[in-house]
Amino acid sequence: MITDPFDTGPTGTFRTLCRNYPDETVFRGADGFRSLWGPIFYRGRANGTARLLVIGQDPAQTEAVTRRCLSGQAGRRVQGFVEKLGYTKSYLMINAFLYGIFNQSMALPHLNDPEIAAYRNQWLEAAFAKGRIETVVTFGTPAFNAWTAFKATPAGAAAAATVQFHKALHPTADKPNGPISRKDLLDNWNVALQALHPTLAHPDVVMPLVPYGSDFTVAELPEIPSRDLPFGFPAWMRNTDFWASLPTATPGTERANISIEVP
Ligand code: URA
Repeated sequence: MITDPFDTGPTGTFRTLCRNYPDETVFRGADGFRSLWGPIFYRGRANGTARLLVIGQDPAQTEAVTRRCLSGQAGRRVQGFVEKLGYTKSYLMINAFLYGIFNQSMALPHLNDPEIAAYRNQWLEAAFAKGRIETVVTFGTPAFNAWTAFKATPAGAAAAATVQFHKALHPTADKPNGPISRKDLLDNWNVALQALHPTLAHPDVVMPLVPYGSDFTVAELPEIPSRDLPFGFPAWMRNTDFWASLPTATPGTERANISIEVP
C-alpha cells in the first residue's frame, strides 16, 4: 500500500486566488501565452507555513500536466537548490506568469500589465501575510522584474524589508554552445547559496552547505516530493524528466498539444 503524502490544496487567501484569477482574455494567445492549458498557480506550501519564497518564470509542458509550478527539468534543478539550503518542505514556488509562454518576445512585455501584476502581487502579499517568509530567491530576469515590481508597492516594500533576497539565473539558462554554460549556471547558484545559507533562521533541516561542481550530480536533481503534487501521481512523473514534450511537427498544433511518453 502506498501512503505517500500529497498536496491537500491551498488554504485561505491562496484558495480564493485559485478560484478567482485572470483568464485567457488577460493572458491572450495572441500575446504569446498558452492559455489553452489554463493557469498553474504554485508548488509547495500554499497554506502560510512557507519560509522560502521562490519565483520562477512560467509553467512549461510538464507543469501543464502536474498542475504545479517548477515540476519538470527546471523544477528538479530548483528542488535540489532549495534542499541544499535545508528547505525540504517549507517553501512556496510561484511563477512571474500564471500561464505558460508560447512566444517569449510576445509574452514577456506583458509582465507588468496591470491585471497580470496586480494578481501576482496578491499571491506575493498572501505569501507574506503570516510573516513567516525569511528568504526570497528569483530565478531569471522576469522573476526578478516581478519581485522588483512588487517591491515598488507599499506592501511589497514592507515585505522586502523583512527578508534575505537573492537573484539567481534561471534553472535552464544554460544552453549547449550558448553564452551561459552549465558551469556558469552552477557558479551563479553557488554564489546565491553562499550568500543565503549563513542567514537562514528556520530551515527544515540544518546542514552544511555543499556547493555545486561543474555539473549537476544525480543527488542534486532530487525527485519532486509527493507532498507537492495532488494525490495519485505516479512516481515516474516526479523522478524522471522529459516525459512531456511539445510536438513541433504539425504546424498549428504547437500551441496546444502536449505529448506524454512514459519512461
Ligand atoms: N517551470 C516553471 O514552472 N517555471 C519556470 O520558470 C520554468 C519551468
